[in-house]
Amino acid sequence: MTLRVLLDVDTGVDDAMAIQFAVAHPDVDLIGITCVAGNTSLGNVVDNTLRVLDLAGAPPIPVAAGALRPLIEPVRASHVHGGNGLGDIPLPESTRTVDERHAVDFARDLLLASSEPVTIVALAPQTNLALLLRLHPEVIPQIERILFMGGSASGGNATAVAEFNVWHDPEAASIVIGSGVPTFMYGLDVFNQVTIDEADADALLTGPSASGRLTGALLRHQMADDADGEPDPSGYAGHIGDAGALCALVDPDALHIERHPVRVALAGESRGQTIVDRRQRVGEDTVHAAGSAAPATRPTVIDVALDVDRERYARLFLATIATLP
Ligand code: BDR
Ligand code: CA
Repeated sequence: MTLRVLLDVDTGVDDAMAIQFAVAHPDVDLIGITCVAGNTSLGNVVDNTLRVLDLAGAPPIPVAAGALRPLIEPVRASHVHGGNGLGDIPLPESTRTVDERHAVDFARDLLLASSEPVTIVALAPQTNLALLLRLHPEVIPQIERILFMGGSASGGNATAVAEFNVWHDPEAASIVIGSGVPTFMYGLDVFNQVTIDEADADALLTGPSASGRLTGALLRHQMADDADGEPDPSGYAGHIGDAGALCALVDPDALHIERHPVRVALAGESRGQTIVDRRQRVGEDTVHAAGSAAPATRPTVIDVALDVDRERYARLFLATIATLP
């Protein structure tokens, strides 16, 4: 079944792989892309997105620029994506133009004009989405669900407990998760698992397809960003990152998914952590809630991906990218 998809990105090494996947996969009808500051500046994000669409031979998919910075936090580009956000890999300048509307207005118009509900796949800090839901709640019935890359039920990457996208704009993630829109969290528990081995990355890098060569270079960039910069003896090249969230969209059966209450920690050392309540039984905080420091509101229950058939997603990713020019 074809899914109508609006992508929200901060392109971004792995966002670039995700955009290529979304363009290539026959079950994804990519109707628009909104950009937000995150991995790199908004200007870089927009520029990278247009260039990647060109390389993938995409039809004229509308692209709109959104929030320049998080709701409260300052801009903090991720160091792992290089100076241009694409691992310093140069791509030809694009001739595509950017939609004149702010991403929030663009998304509102797109959703309200759609003849069927749209799935939003968010691969970035959720600033645009939070603004959309707060400014234009009338779009909510038009959203099939929000599938977001972000958060973790285990450890973090930006901090010991917080994943980058949520840490970058915790208030925005809290608004989105608590919005009542059906929400699916593709977090670090699965994000880090789907890797491509060195031989496959090199085959892409030296192959005939321009998109394949970009993917190979992006995977190679990730390997170079490993702690010691040395090739891993296990043959590990890099992970598909955000592209895994697109795999989750078209092949959810490869995931172990559970429904749990999730909230975003907004204060203190754990700021930006997604607190996933995996308890099977009511806890003491609930039993003895009166007069305790328990949260005043019950966290929203959402779908959380906790494990993945990593081989299956690696194969799906490679087979999909292989169809691009
Ligand atoms: C997320 O942050 C960025 O580095 C990636 O693009 C991904 O969306 C992982 O924490
Ligand atoms: Ca991203």
